[in-house]
Amino acid sequence: MALEITPLRTGPRLGAGFAGEVAGIDLTRPLSGEDVAAIEAGMDRYGVLVFHDQRFDDQTQLAFSRHFGGLEVSSAGEMSRPEERRLAVEMADISNLDAQGRLRAADDRRRLIALGNQLWHSDASFRAVPAKYSLLSARVVPGRGGNTEFADMRAAYDALDAATKAEVEDLVTLHSNAYSREQLGVRPETYGAENQEKLRPVRQRLVRTHPVTGRKSLYLSAHIGAIEGWPVPEARAFIRDLMEHATQPEFVHAHAWRPWDLVIWDNRTTMHRARRYDDRGEVRDLRRTTIRGDGPTIAQVPAAA
Ligand code: OGA
Ligand code: MN
Repeated sequence: MALEITPLRTGPRLGAGFAGEVAGIDLTRPLSGEDVAAIEAGMDRYGVLVFHDQRFDDQTQLAFSRHFGGLEVSSAGEMSRPEERRLAVEMADISNLDAQGRLRAADDRRRLIALGNQLWHSDASFRAVPAKYSLLSARVVPGRGGNTEFADMRAAYDALDAATKAEVEDLVTLHSNAYSREQLGVRPETYGAENQEKLRPVRQRLVRTHPVTGRKSLYLSAHIGAIEGWPVPEARAFIRDLMEHATQPEFVHAHAWRPWDLVIWDNRTTMHRARRYDDRGEVRDLRRTTIRGDGPTIAQVPAAA
């Protein structure tokens, strides 16, 4: 059956539209090559795709995800001890539960680190080869709050004035999980002595070009802590400015979760953030699979910071 995509956000500065709602496909069943190609084409066009009523379990979500490339192990998964994990290591646990399925304690290290998802970011931008797609499946959602918001970084780039476009064109930023958590007062030691090496900053282009569409986008993320060759305060003030620009309401789509929604986003062309909810009182169980990118945005000579 042919899949149908309806744009969720349109506007004068959103090109062909941002975020599409897809009907007419059950992703838990075997897919044809045409189905997969149609989903990829939809991703290239809309940056975010929303599917409802996709009754995944972890096995069917993993099988579906592998159509789009190799899977990445999330940083939280990589840095966790086996006894701390509730899910298989390829399933990023985007929940507020501990390994026993209880609500995480207020001072649980994993809870504090996960609060970083409330800052605008692009997944795994702290890796030399950052992520392509993220696929997030909703199993249990809270009664109130807990939306996920998405920002269109192609539209944000297009809307820059010519002088700013020229200024950002060749800039290189440094990304680390330590930089995003520092904004929340989470200290690098929270990650444990064994994980400090994984916090080493990586270099990314600030402007990247989509390999299929050729469209440029601003590659922003809360993981940015420096611009190569710039004094840190000047870099952070500029990144804040660009963040404000890129997350204006007209570039943002808010997704209100229903159980069994699946949302796929392209980390190369979008940012996202989680919104608050009562994570000490209600369960929110979302599970993410992440598709590895196919190359660095820039050569990884050792970063200066
Ligand atoms: C993620 C993420 C946001 C949310 O899964 O990568 O940032 O709303 N999630 O849980
Ligand atoms: Mn994320």
